[in-house]
Amino acid sequence: MYIVHVASECAPVAKVGGLADVIFGLSWEHAIRGHDVEIIVPKYDCMRYDHVWGMSVSHSDLWVPWFGGSINCTVWFGFVHGRKVFFIDPHSNDNFFNRRTFYGCHDDVMRYAFFCKAALEFMLKSGKRPDVIHCHDWQTGLLPVLLAEVYQHHGMGAQRVCYTVHNFKHQGIFGRDILDATGLGRHDYYFSPTQLRDDHNAAVLNCMKGGIVYSNFVTTVSPKHAWEARHTPQGHGLGGTLNAHQGKFGGILNGVDYNTWNPELDGFLPCRYGIETLDDKYHNKDALRDRFWLYKSDKPIISYVGRLDDQKGLDLICHAAHYALSKGAQFVLLGSPSNNVIYNQFAHLRNQLGQSVDCHIELGFNEELSHLIYSGSDMMIVPSVFEPCGLSQLIALRYGTVPIVRSVGGLADTVFDKDHAHADLSARNGFTFNDLNNQGLESAMNRAISLYYDYPGHFRILMANGMRSDYSWNHPGTHYMNIYDLIRHK
Ligand code: ADP
Ligand code: GLC
Repeated sequence: MYIVHVASECAPVAKVGGLADVIFGLSWEHAIRGHDVEIIVPKYDCMRYDHVWGMSVSHSDLWVPWFGGSINCTVWFGFVHGRKVFFIDPHSNDNFFNRRTFYGCHDDVMRYAFFCKAALEFMLKSGKRPDVIHCHDWQTGLLPVLLAEVYQHHGMGAQRVCYTVHNFKHQGIFGRDILDATGLGRHDYYFSPTQLRDDHNAAVLNCMKGGIVYSNFVTTVSPKHAWEARHTPQGHGLGGTLNAHQGKFGGILNGVDYNTWNPELDGFLPCRYGIETLDDKYHNKDALRDRFWLYKSDKPIISYVGRLDDQKGLDLICHAAHYALSKGAQFVLLGSPSNNVIYNQFAHLRNQLGQSVDCHIELGFNEELSHLIYSGSDMMIVPSVFEPCGLSQLIALRYGTVPIVRSVGGLADTVFDKDHAHADLSARNGFTFNDLNNQGLESAMNRAISLYYDYPGHFRILMANGMRSDYSWNHPGTHYMNIYDLIRHK
């Protein structure tokens, strides 16, 4: 089958969070099964070009219709660790992707509307006719709309779209200007409530709703979150639309790329290890302490790695730092704040705790350092408000780092409590809590720290259970292939 992913991120060249990992992992899973898989992303100036091999021009002079005129683009091609990736590089005064940042610009919706249009124009002009175009998140929600309303009539009538929502919080809200820019026009038609009109603000349109309405199949990234999105406020206003389209909506748990995230192979680790050589994990713990000038003792290290966004339970993360220290544990954080207010909150935490020999707070994005933290920690907290899937707990499991998570979304589907889970003893792999408050978090952290000190043998069984579990792309790869097959033959 011929599959093209269109997305705003791809690890490790353009990575903000888990979306990038999914594009990287899922595309490879299908490629090694013999399918023809390509990826289209924007050519950002802030990309990691050191991870692109053989960058060359694939298509010059691609004229993309825009606001009644057109914008000239170059499309580049390169291999990203074996994946075939096309990079869209527009040349205009808008400078859509040369902003020294991936997201957070005032015209983000315009930037990605252009990206959708350019990706389709590129496929059209270069004769690419994939069986399935797999789009991801709000940034590519307009692609299926443009395909059905415009490009279908220019020779792309056979292409099917699978649309995956990784995060319902960001939906891409826009107005008439984008209908004009993309050539969709027909304001009244698109403002109909069954089309793109936002379900809560009749004055605006919604990219993600467009993706849901127009795609042949819609997924989100865990079964639990598929339910939450339809039946709780976690749909962020799209529950009604999802219910209306429930026949083509489902949840597929993400996988993890075990070539990248594998303590037996990981080139970033000072010392590689596996289940049989678990003691070697502790050389990484030593290295982590050396790196952050932490005191060497018998204390466990509890860590957090991830974006620092309201979604992630910011107050609970701060509380976890204080609580860990008060309970005789060390605490390490690597986080990328999503705005200045959040940056200041954690800079304050760093000032409060930075002098402690048991704590280190590192603000920023650092792929290499994240590997050291996953491997060198004993436990990892993920106290999210909502979590469509979550990859950090899955990576932690692989590294024998025991997850302590709030039981929501994909966290609930993957972490099974040592004491309370309705799961086989051999499937229990961490600690969970329900209540979104300090007491909830403390109840789980307390049990984890006590087990570490009082029953080290039991703690080790928990580590090994996690390392044995299979969260590779194998199963999800098959689920997605079944969906592709289904929509292809409709
Ligand atoms: P989300 O997609 O909501 O950010 P996930 O848990 O699905 O959360 O995926 C996060 C991915 O991004 C993981 O691979 C994690 O290691 C990585 N990551 C997040 N923040 C950072 C950071 N500050 N430095 C390095 N890696 C990070
Ligand atoms: C999103 C979600 C996260 C998920 C990731 C990859 O950013 O917040 O839960 O794991 O996408 O699908």
